[in-house]
Amino acid sequence: MQPNHLDAYWMPFTANRQFKSAPRLVGRAEGMHYWTPEGRQVLDGVAGLWCVNAGHSRPRITAAIQAQAAELDFAPPFQMGHPKVFELAERLIELTPAGIDKVFFTNSGSESVDTALKMALAYHRVRGEGQRTRLIGRERGYHGVNFGGISVGGMVANRKMFGQMLGGVDHIRHTHDPVRNAFSKGQPAHGAELADDLERMVALHDASTIAAVIVEPVAGSTGVLVPPQGYLERLRAICDKHGILLIFDEVITGFGRLGSPFAANHFGVVPDLMTVAKGLTNGCVPMGAVFARRFIHDAFMNGPEHLVEFFHGYTYSGHPLACAAALGTLDTYAEEGLLTRAASMASSFENAVHSLSALPNVIDVRNIGLVAGVELAPIAGEPGKRAFQVFLDCWENGLLVRTTGDTVALSPPLIVDHQHIDQMIGTLANAIRRAA
Ligand SMILES: Cc1ncc(COP(=O)(O)O)c(C=O)c1O
Repeated sequence: MQPNHLDAYWMPFTANRQFKSAPRLVGRAEGMHYWTPEGRQVLDGVAGLWCVNAGHSRPRITAAIQAQAAELDFAPPFQMGHPKVFELAERLIELTPAGIDKVFFTNSGSESVDTALKMALAYHRVRGEGQRTRLIGRERGYHGVNFGGISVGGMVANRKMFGQMLGGVDHIRHTHDPVRNAFSKGQPAHGAELADDLERMVALHDASTIAAVIVEPVAGSTGVLVPPQGYLERLRAICDKHGILLIFDEVITGFGRLGSPFAANHFGVVPDLMTVAKGLTNGCVPMGAVFARRFIHDAFMNGPEHLVEFFHGYTYSGHPLACAAALGTLDTYAEEGLLTRAASMASSFENAVHSLSALPNVIDVRNIGLVAGVELAPIAGEPGKRAFQVFLDCWENGLLVRTTGDTVALSPPLIVDHQHIDQMIGTLANAIRRAA
């Protein structure tokens, strides 16, 4: 392909000039693999972008989308419905922890986050605590790219270029503590007390001004940060004490990544609102959702019955194609036990990723379920470059990984097998040695 064919497309979250000087294209995908347009096979070590949890091009999902396109292409979502959106909501709440039984549909993780933040603010307002307008995020959090999400998010690169964030937002400290926790397997032992930083927010702002706190149960995009033992439980307790809503952003952890349907099930900590996307449709059709506890929904169900209760929604909320894809995805997950499969693979995956610990420049390895982060020492004065070299080397040698800063992330489709893990670790190990 000539460079001029690549010119028009302004690529998202991409080093555009570097990419266009040496493009990396995929043309086909099936199961655990991509193929380049020239036919080179690449093992998918990151489920596309943490989303293709059942592996690629699964027949049930493909057939569901094809049939839906022929039967009902679009249904207006406002003041109207179609059968599959109700069926999907019912199916989803069978998977969520007890107490979470309402589903609101969006089209992406970013939209789910902004929807959840708006729900939290509006919830307090409709029940007469409209002064609770403050939103609390966490440093090193990633909650998508919309204004709400970047405001509560904690990644400087996603914030510094965009001027004013939402007002009235503050952040608790992140939980990453390499001095005490480097090379932890699963949940690190140290750091439950970092949840007390929410008490500091309460002391500073007063609980009566705080609407909600949002965290990723496991932070993905800032380098796979696993919550310390006891941390999420403590955060939940502090929220309960002060009437603050707890939002889990499960865009990455949702749909089996940790070995349970959701991180909330896995850690036994039930939030008030949960945001999901990605694995909801196996990445096949854009879709996100917010799951809410019933009391939040019910607080809106006042006033005249002919009036809209929550002034929010998208033209494509609950789109028929997305619903068909999601139902096909849930069937595939159920038939193959994929929402719990990570639990049975976790220990061999853990041993495999920790075998990288002794390699040059590896300064931390973190893991839980089927997700891992391998952190490399940065090249002096060039942060992110060593991991990017590893990413390019892996790609050349048949493995797709993802990098963030100098951390290489692995989050394979949940159908991953032992020989895929061996190949992944072998290719990554060679790339790390070469980047020394
Ligand atoms: C935790 C989390 N929240 C939100 C998002 C944003 O999702 P999307 O890219 O679908 O808008 C992501 C994307 O990676 C994410 O990891």
